[in-house]
Order: sequence, then C-alpha cells, then structure tokens
Amino acid sequence: MDNMQIITPHYIMFHDRVVTNLSVAFEKTIVKIAPFEELIEIYPDAKVTTLREHSLLMPGLINAHVHIEFSGNKTSLSYGNFLNWLYSVIENRANLINDCGVECMSEAIDAMLENGITTFGAISSHAMDLEACVKAKQNVVFFNELIGSQAAMADALFGDFVARLDASKQVQREGFYPAVAIHSPYSVHPVLIKKAIDIVKNENLKLTAHFMESQAEREWLDKSEGEFKEFFQDLFKQDRNISNAKEFLEHFNEVPTLFTHAVELNEDEIQTLKNHNHTVIHCPISNRLLGNKTLNIQALNNENIPWIVATDGLSSNYGLDLFEEMKISLFMHADAPLISFAKALLDGVTINAAKALGLNTGEIAEGKNADMIVIDLEDEPNEQLPLHLLLHRYNISKVYINGKLEKGN
Ligand code: BEZ
Ligand code: FE2
Repeated sequence: MDNMQIITPHYIMFHDRVVTNLSVAFEKTIVKIAPFEELIEIYPDAKVTTLREHSLLMPGLINAHVHIEFSGNKTSLSYGNFLNWLYSVIENRANLINDCGVECMSEAIDAMLENGITTFGAISSHAMDLEACVKAKQNVVFFNELIGSQAAMADALFGDFVARLDASKQVQREGFYPAVAIHSPYSVHPVLIKKAIDIVKNENLKLTAHFMESQAEREWLDKSEGEFKEFFQDLFKQDRNISNAKEFLEHFNEVPTLFTHAVELNEDEIQTLKNHNHTVIHCPISNRLLGNKTLNIQALNNENIPWIVATDGLSSNYGLDLFEEMKISLFMHADAPLISFAKALLDGVTINAAKALGLNTGEIAEGKNADMIVIDLEDEPNEQLPLHLLLHRYNISKVYINGKLEKGN
C-alpha cells in the first residue's frame, strides 16, 4: 500500500447526500471513507492532502460522446440546418482533419481535463485521434466508427473498420477501452451492422450509434422522403433508405447500446429502447446548433429509460464543458422541475454515464476508481447545490484520475 493517499475535503458529494467531517483513502481505487483519525491509524504512511474551506470532492465527469478528430472547427461548419451542416462537414472534412493534428486534438482533450472530465467516449471516424487518445490523461472509451451505406463498398469499409478496431485493441494502458460505433441508421449498410455487432458480442465491447437526430432522418427512414432524398440521390445515386428505424434497432436487441440524440423518437422506438436496456445520450448544444429538436426527457423518464449528457464534438459545439452543457439543458427544458432536474443532469455526467459505459467509476464510494474532482465552492452547500454547480461554474482546483493527480497540486 505504498501509494495510499488520504484526502480531506470540507464536503464530499455522495450520490444521495453531501457530508462533512469525512476523508477518503485511495490509491487507484477508493479504499475507505471514514473520519481522518480512523484512516490515518490504518494508513499511517499515507500521503495526506487537506483541502481549504468550502472545498467539495465530487466524482469526475464523464463525457460519453465527443468527436476528437473534428476539434479544429470553430467557424468552418454551417449551423442551423442538419443537412446543410452535413454538406458542410463533407466539404470541409479533409481540411478540418488535416489541419488538426495530434497537438490540436490534445488541446481539446486537455480542455476537457481542465473542465473536470475524467472519462470520455471518443467517436473515432478515421483513427486519426488514436495517438492523442492514447496519450490522454483520461479514461477513454475509443469507439471505432463504422460508416458506409453502399453495398459495393462494404468489404473495403469493413476491412478498414476492423483494422482500426484491431489497432485500438493493441493499446495497453490503464483506462483505455476499445469499442464500436455504428454511425447511423441511414449511413451503415445492414450487412455491415450485423458483422460489427457480431464482433461486439463475441468480444464484449461497448456499442454506440447516432439515432434519430434530425427530422430529415425521421422522414428518410419512414418514407425515403425529405431532405435526405436529394442528398442520397446526388451523392450515391440511391433513391431509398437501406433500412427503416425498426429494422435498424432490431440489430441492437441483445446489446445494451448508447444511442446519441434520439430527439425524433416515436412511441414504438421508446418501447424498444426500454425493452432492450438502451441508454440515450443527450447533446443539447449540438441539437440546438444543427437545427434539431430538443430531447423529450419527460418521455424517457415516463418509461424509466436511462439518459446521460455529452458535449458531442467541436464540430457542433463551442466548447467541451459538461457544466455548460448541463446548464444549457437546464434552460432548454424550461418545464422541468429546477432542482431535481439539475440533479438528474449531474447524474447524467457521473453515475449514470458510468453505468451506461460499464465503468467502475462515477461515484465517490468505496471500491470505485478514484476519478475525483475538487470544486472550490464559495460558501456552505445547501439543498440547492445541484443548481448552484450548474449556474456558477466554480473553479476546479484538482482532478484525480485512477488515483493520480492530473490537474492541480
Ligand atoms: C455513407 O457513407 O454512405 C454516408 C455517409 C454520411 C452520410 C450518409 C451516408
Ligand atoms: Fe456525434
């Protein structure tokens, strides 16, 4: 127990309450939570850190959906309409990716660290972000993305996908998890989806997909109509969808999956998400900027469907800050009860995000990985703390990941 540490914050945020007069003993994981005198007796050689007045120890934040490869965007992409954005991504993709090398991607990753994000899910289209993600201080779920609607291209695209997945499986570092992303129902051929999900099942990998992000997607999957009609005609000489939403979701029946956006769900789809233990990833800023709807969280809550919160990439956001993301969601969901919704948002970047990703983190509790952040509150927390955390963007003075101090001193 050479690396044991004991930290004494003024307050600790447990899942159900805030406590004071307790300390946390940890190495890679949280070993014991008890009064300081008790811990120092058990671990007399521990490194001791005593924090200032009004410091709050809380779980590190988890950003389950971010596109690191697109971190170069600030003003290049067209916002306001999903299809116009997609055309602008296709037009600018090569430039955006070539102009954002490892250093530029690492900057985005470090910005997340500054913002208290200790785990992220990287949606990797081309593995250009592999090196930056391996070097990251954070835990990384590296979602190798599969895309391609054209049957003629299927073998080549699948070969490329498997090569990227294999490369990510070679990575040997603590907190790095190779995983799979299916781009979307409109962009991945069913034959490819089936082959990828067979790998996911055999190797017990985490799985994610974009789903029901835009009205254009809704119309294309339902009727092969709408704004995607011209897109597919022009780009691929394709005049109908490759599958409908129901056929798409059936592929995922045996694998609890993280579905991103889900702002255009119908009743059947809500039941399917519920029946197969899927989770929705809520990216409110991205939805607003791309001209899409706001997630109907009430409809998910009515069916106890888990939902979590993520930033999406800098291709559809102006920052990678989950505190900002939660605050925007709080204001977009103006009908939601203020304090309990703020608390649900916090759960969506901590305990519920960890559950959805299958990671042993997201909570200050014995046995959990020591992914923890220190927030400098300015006075004593009260029952409205969840709201205050979203409103005031307090200073984050320390970030621990797997017990290692990665920000602060
Ligand atoms: C495709 O590769 O088939 C595709 C990519 C993006 C949007 C739609 C389709
Ligand atoms: Fe995305």
